[in-house]
Amino acid sequence: MAVTPRPVGDFEAIPGWLTPDQAALLREAASQVPAGGVAVEIGSHHGRSAVVLAAALPVGARLVAVDPFPSDWRYGAPGTEQSFRANLARAGVAGRVDVRVATSADVRRDWTGPLDLVYVDGKHDHWTVRDDLHWAHHVTPGGWVLVHDAFSSLGVTTALLRDVLPSRSLRYAGRVGSLARLQVAPPSRRDRLRMLAELPWWVRNLVVKVLLRLRLRPLARLLGHDGAADPF
Ligand SMILES: C[S@@+](CC[C@H](N)C(=O)[O-])C[C@H]1O[C@@H](n2cnc3c(N)ncnc32)[C@H](O)[C@@H]1O
Repeated sequence: MAVTPRPVGDFEAIPGWLTPDQAALLREAASQVPAGGVAVEIGSHHGRSAVVLAAALPVGARLVAVDPFPSDWRYGAPGTEQSFRANLARAGVAGRVDVRVATSADVRRDWTGPLDLVYVDGKHDHWTVRDDLHWAHHVTPGGWVLVHDAFSSLGVTTALLRDVLPSRSLRYAGRVGSLARLQVAPPSRRDRLRMLAELPWWVRNLVVKVLLRLRLRPLARLLGHDGAADPF
């Protein structure tokens, strides 16, 4: 398919939920992957985050982008995979991305090699996110696991509370909006308390989402939320 080149800075032209501040965090994390290293993205959609990650990787590193592109996904649509591939090509990064049209669980089942970075933004239900967090076992010590919607979704947050809060090998290191940074390292008591301290913000985000669905935007504004989009 012939595509018109598009600068990577134009990631905002690609549909999706990644904010500019979150893109900056992905860029920083991807730039720390060593030459020859591997990053995995779970959930690619139209490629908004994939183009940011792939463009920031050093020469010789690669991004494995995992998405089954199911037609029944809530925001899915026929042609999403084609749109994703076209967006990689437009950004000039298609050559450094291995696209796996499969579920995260299926790809992980056969995965053996070490990873330098994992970005989790796939299916957001509690059980799938818990399963996706198993990718962290492949990440080298000190490496990063970044999780989108970490404190704006019931399924993602309860999975993090269940598996990260008591973990001895994954520490919560902060967030940009709802994009959480987890590091493969033993957590301190302070890391755990820091994660618990996010819970009021999480509850506020759930309330905002309910208010938006009830078309009560003025009430959401009272909670400091502007616009019709969910908090991310
Ligand atoms: C929130 S979107 C990802 C957005 C993308 N990271 C971006 O920034 O544009 C979630 C994606 O996860 C995909 N998905 C659904 N189930 C999945 C699974 N089991 N494994 C991997 N991806 C999955 C969906 O097809 C969808 O494209």
